[in-house]
Amino acid sequence: MLKKFEIQECSVRNILDSRGTLTVEATIRLPDAVGISSAPSGASTGETEVKAFPQGGALSSLDIFYKEVRKGIIGLNALDQSGFDSYLEKVDGTGNFSSIGGNLATALSIANAKAVANSLQIPLYRYVGGNFASRMPKPLGNVLGGGKHSRNGTTIQEFFVSTQSENMLQCINTNIRVHRRVGEKLSEKYPDISIGVGDERAWTCNISDLDAVELVRDAAAEIEHESRLKILVGSDLAATSFFEKGKYVYKEGPKTVDQQKDFVVSLVKDHGFRVIEDPLVDSDYDGFADITAKVGDRSMIIGDDLYTTNPERIVVGIERKSTNAVLIKVNQIGTLSKTVEAVNLVNRAGWKTVISHRSGETTDDFIAHLGVAFGSEMIKSGTIGGERLAKLNELIRIQEDF
Ligand code: PGA
Ligand code: ZN
Repeated sequence: MLKKFEIQECSVRNILDSRGTLTVEATIRLPDAVGISSAPSGASTGETEVKAFPQGGALSSLDIFYKEVRKGIIGLNALDQSGFDSYLEKVDGTGNFSSIGGNLATALSIANAKAVANSLQIPLYRYVGGNFASRMPKPLGNVLGGGKHSRNGTTIQEFFVSTQSENMLQCINTNIRVHRRVGEKLSEKYPDISIGVGDERAWTCNISDLDAVELVRDAAAEIEHESRLKILVGSDLAATSFFEKGKYVYKEGPKTVDQQKDFVVSLVKDHGFRVIEDPLVDSDYDGFADITAKVGDRSMIIGDDLYTTNPERIVVGIERKSTNAVLIKVNQIGTLSKTVEAVNLVNRAGWKTVISHRSGETTDDFIAHLGVAFGSEMIKSGTIGGERLAKLNELIRIQEDF
């Protein structure tokens, strides 16, 4: 091992995420460089994702780290990322990080990669993506929603937009213009209903899901016309969160599985939606495949809770043609190595990846780098808010390299 990459010291601490909830930040020290990273947390977490924290929460992650994890990290070869990540899996020993916590594993895994990139004096996207990484993901930003990200919003979790321009600043700024227009339209159309913002800073308002579909579609069309840029509209239904006893229970009333599929197909065919995420419950691989067969030629159909960035679940989805895209969240699976394995599977299938934030975020910008490294089609990181813009602004800087 080159002495340059031998881990000298490793420490972790609790910090706060954008919801004001404790999470974990890790520091890895090499002889000539340091890597620091923190892990975000979800609210609509997938059933099959790794456990973010051990029993006892974020505080006990720290205890466990100093008692059981730290010693084995010191002296490891940081350049051997898969060796580093295997150590984390081995010391946890449960297969789902329920012993040390997926957020601790994520923070350590990314901090290790950052330390190496810093030591090599290259950006993280170049270290992870290699020489040929050159594709900038298009920002996908949540403008209106509800679900588990707010109270009294729509049943559907997110309505989002993605401006298609080669200029990153223009993409980000135009998504923000749609966000602003959605806010204006809400207060014009519903002067008596209060308006708030959810965890990801999307507007939230107690209107029907169908009214929300139309409002976002119209706001995007107006900004598309004014900016002369193509704006894709879509939705993360996060359907598992309102699936009860075999029905999709909207606040307006329940839908059968077939009615839900018809509704999703009509979002694409009648309302022009071009990005659909988690339209069905996270166990219905074949139901996803029905939707993909019907409208996958016109729209991205993304699995988030369906796959939870888990290579084994992605293999099943590929076999069954469930979707044509996969949402990628490192802390759903807990290590950079497993995430890369997931991304490689998706790319080999000819599908697209969308790298994503979580609803509870820190200001760490590593997903901006991973989105470029993976050649992701899009990066889902909200529209406004410091913790969201930390990633988007980093993409503006990265674009200067190309
Ligand atoms: P999260 O959800 O609350 O689990 O981060 C975001 C999503 O469903 O994409
Ligand atoms: Zn989702």
